[in-house]
Amino acid sequence: MSCRASQQDLEDLQMKIFVAGGTGAIGRPLLNQLLAKGHNVVALTRSQERAQSFAAQGIEPAIADVFDPNSVKEAIAHAQPEVVIEQLTALPKTYTRESMAAAGPLNTRIRLEGGANVLAAAQAAGVRRYLRQSIAIWGIPGAGLADEETPLVLDASPVVAAESRVMTEIEHRLLESNLEGIALRYGFFYGPGTWFNSDGDVGQQVRQQQLPIVGNGEGIWSWLHIEDAAIATVAAAEQGNPGIYQIVDDQPLAVRDWLPAFARSLNAPPPPRVSVEDALKLEGGADIVYYQTQMRGASNAKAKRELNFQPRSLEWMVNTVAAHAS
Ligand SMILES: NC(=O)c1ccc[n+]([C@@H]2O[C@H](COP(=O)([O-])OP(=O)(O)OC[C@H]3O[C@@H](n4cnc5c(N)ncnc54)[C@H](OP(=O)(O)O)[C@@H]3O)[C@@H](O)[C@H]2O)c1
Repeated sequence: MSCRASQQDLEDLQMKIFVAGGTGAIGRPLLNQLLAKGHNVVALTRSQERAQSFAAQGIEPAIADVFDPNSVKEAIAHAQPEVVIEQLTALPKTYTRESMAAAGPLNTRIRLEGGANVLAAAQAAGVRRYLRQSIAIWGIPGAGLADEETPLVLDASPVVAAESRVMTEIEHRLLESNLEGIALRYGFFYGPGTWFNSDGDVGQQVRQQQLPIVGNGEGIWSWLHIEDAAIATVAAAEQGNPGIYQIVDDQPLAVRDWLPAFARSLNAPPPPRVSVEDALKLEGGADIVYYQTQMRGASNAKAKRELNFQPRSLEWMVNTVAAHAS
């Protein structure tokens, strides 16, 4: 009897879900989690080849470029999903000042214009619920952890302020729409396919001692394993309330704590140190100093309460503690 009831519960939860950005770092584990939960998944890509691999995984492929509003509209109208999840980015595979600056304009365009096209297509197709990626790391600096009521910082170093403005506009656009809008403010992704992995770009930079601690490294970073990001996103799609959720792990950490531990986990030399004064002389120095000394951690209390979110501990801190204990 109870078995039948839970099978029924499971079936009640199954939805048709359209994912834009399903081939990226978060997209790939997200599609797997959605399939594992029995959802009927449609995923968008521009690539015929990636569409074929979707089909082989049991995912319905949709081919469109989000800068072409008509083809996105057709794709979503054809799929008739109940839920859309937007994970579009045009971020580079390397996390350097130069590569981020070069990618910036397209990344902003894909979020504003590409995202607007997907949102409009979802509205036209009668989609009920829409989730999209936002960011937890730019809560206005202040005491304690930022929560969902904390606005993103608009008065900051140039890139942080510009990106916060874009994300604030996108969050408002979604939350003021006629859909059940959910903005997922993710922490820094780490794990397979991300910058912060042993074989990722930051892993390489740390091995080469290219990532210093600036000043006293008191900027607080909130982390999120990419698999936990996927799990929380599915939970929000299934049972979240419209609004904002911060999806981060339990232990925001200062740069001076996580960066040396990351280096140790890679068997890399300790990170070099640079003064704030010297960092400010670098191109983009004000943003580097912001990330390293001013960033504010984020609270996951709402996601734990409402989504039963149970994030894992930052893996290289766990490994470091275990190594010290043995
Ligand atoms: N919170 C965080 O820390 C955070 C958040 C996001 C990203 N990142 C980092 O950034 C790095 C790269 O990010 P990513 O994995 O999102 O990038 P990615 O691998 O380039 O994925 C971008 C996604 O957007 C889709 N897309 C891009 N332009 C499109 C267009 N014009 N039309 C339709 N779809 C389009 C791509 O689809 P197709 O190419 O298949 O068409 C792909 O699915 C990752 O390593 C990750 O660590 C970090």
